Amino acid sequence: MQLFLDTASVTEIRTMWETGILDGVTTNPTLVAKEGRKFEDVLREICALGVPSVSAEVVATDTEGMLREGRHLRTIHPSIYVKVPMTPAGLRATKVLAAEQTRVNMTLVFSANQALLAAKVGAAYVSPFIGRLDDQGQVGMDLIREIVQIYRNYPFPTKVLVASVRHPVHVLEAAKIGADIATMPYAVMEKLVQHPLTDLGLARFLKDWEKVPKG
Ligand code: G3P
Repeated sequence: MQLFLDTASVTEIRTMWETGILDGVTTNPTLVAKEGRKFEDVLREICALGVPSVSAEVVATDTEGMLREGRHLRTIHPSIYVKVPMTPAGLRATKVLAAEQTRVNMTLVFSANQALLAAKVGAAYVSPFIGRLDDQGQVGMDLIREIVQIYRNYPFPTKVLVASVRHPVHVLEAAKIGADIATMPYAVMEKLVQHPLTDLGLARFLKDWEKVPKG
């Protein structure tokens, strides 16, 4: 399973990249706006770290605009995946971009049928937003189960990228289901590393080590 950071903070990405557990990055217009920096500068810096998969979202809502932006984004770096929303215009744009060998991440997916359509038009990734479904009183993880089941029935190469992850249990459940990727905020990825018993155990080992005769 691949672990992605859902952030546009180069500092956060660099820190996690150095640990060796990071496989990719997803951004969205909200995350980019938080940084207060030029989108392309941020993308270039992330890609320069060597991150092999960096999703960058189009903001046009018509097919032609999406194609224009997507074609431009892909020229920035070979690691760029173009993020396109799940709309009729987005489906049309994805079909064309995929035929041009541009890898598309279809985003804002909230149903299994939408995920089926993303696979049919050749998206490289499908991004179901589970946290936002949980917020609505629907169990987001059930959607991941459905999509994984549907994708197993057919030879679709589309990868299931679990998005809108809010806590470590989301990551655990996604891994148990067999989702390909989970993208998460920095704070969630940090929590995957931490365990209070690890800290306690280390403190005890170090304390006991002081009793060992040296020299
Ligand atoms: O980047 C897409 C998705 O992960 C957004 O998550 O927390 O805004 O619902 P969130």
